[in-house]
Amino acid sequence: MVVGTVPFAAGAYGMIFERVNLETTRQQIRLARLPYAFDGLRIAQLSDIHIGPFMSEAEIRRVVEITNRLRADLIVLTGDYVTWDPSTQGAVVNVLAGLKAPYGVFGCLGNHELWTRTESSITRLFAATGIPILRQERVSIAAAGPGTPGVDQSLNLIGVDFQTHTSMRRRERGFVEHYLAGVDRLQRPDSVNILLSHNPNTFDRAADLGIDLSLAGHTHGGQVSLEFVHPGISPARLVSPYVRGWFQKGNAQLYVNRGIGTIGVPIRIDAPPEISVFDLVRT
Ligand SMILES: [Fe+2]
Repeated sequence: MVVGTVPFAAGAYGMIFERVNLETTRQQIRLARLPYAFDGLRIAQLSDIHIGPFMSEAEIRRVVEITNRLRADLIVLTGDYVTWDPSTQGAVVNVLAGLKAPYGVFGCLGNHELWTRTESSITRLFAATGIPILRQERVSIAAAGPGTPGVDQSLNLIGVDFQTHTSMRRRERGFVEHYLAGVDRLQRPDSVNILLSHNPNTFDRAADLGIDLSLAGHTHGGQVSLEFVHPGISPARLVSPYVRGWFQKGNAQLYVNRGIGTIGVPIRIDAPPEISVFDLVRT
């Protein structure tokens, strides 16, 4: 009887408690080329909102309020705003339009925008609220106030659409032969380059390209992680070695946000939803 009850009790715990137990995590990001003006800059990241039956507008509004209270200088969104229903795109954009940060709010797209064929439409909706979605594009975030003459006082923020090359079906939408093709043209060698890419698997290529910081989501931190049983047991590990948290490779850093929403079963075990906050430090 005990053996039979455990999965149900664990499922109820994941549904009732962990799914709504939002965690704010803080990570210091040390960057050698960070302009003095951005020393201490705070970036907040939201990912994988997944509006739908298990993620209401009211819940997202609560996340927006909490994020605004973190007083981030810049807010980034790393894709998967919708789940399966394209008609929900207006609602999620309207709520996210409440995010406020002095240097603005920027985003990239996820595989659910690709699969629901909402990539163009949600980009237009976001643009109308003043949130640029970067689709193989870059933007310069220039420091406010006087800088040192001749010294670049900006960050280079790049965003790419969802891309995968681990897919079994090579003709699946989003499949690419090589990760981050063409991104070298968006980089600025004299600046700190930050990449918004939904799929954390682009990190190895980003590190090769010399991108200082990659921000990703997609894995939901394993969503149902059984790492307390065995470190290898997490469905997301099958598709990515980068399941959650901070990684470093040479001078490149990656942060994988566990996301806000859920897909499939509305259950999260040992993978509570997350708002990640980065404090940039010049080294
Ligand atoms: Fe995703």
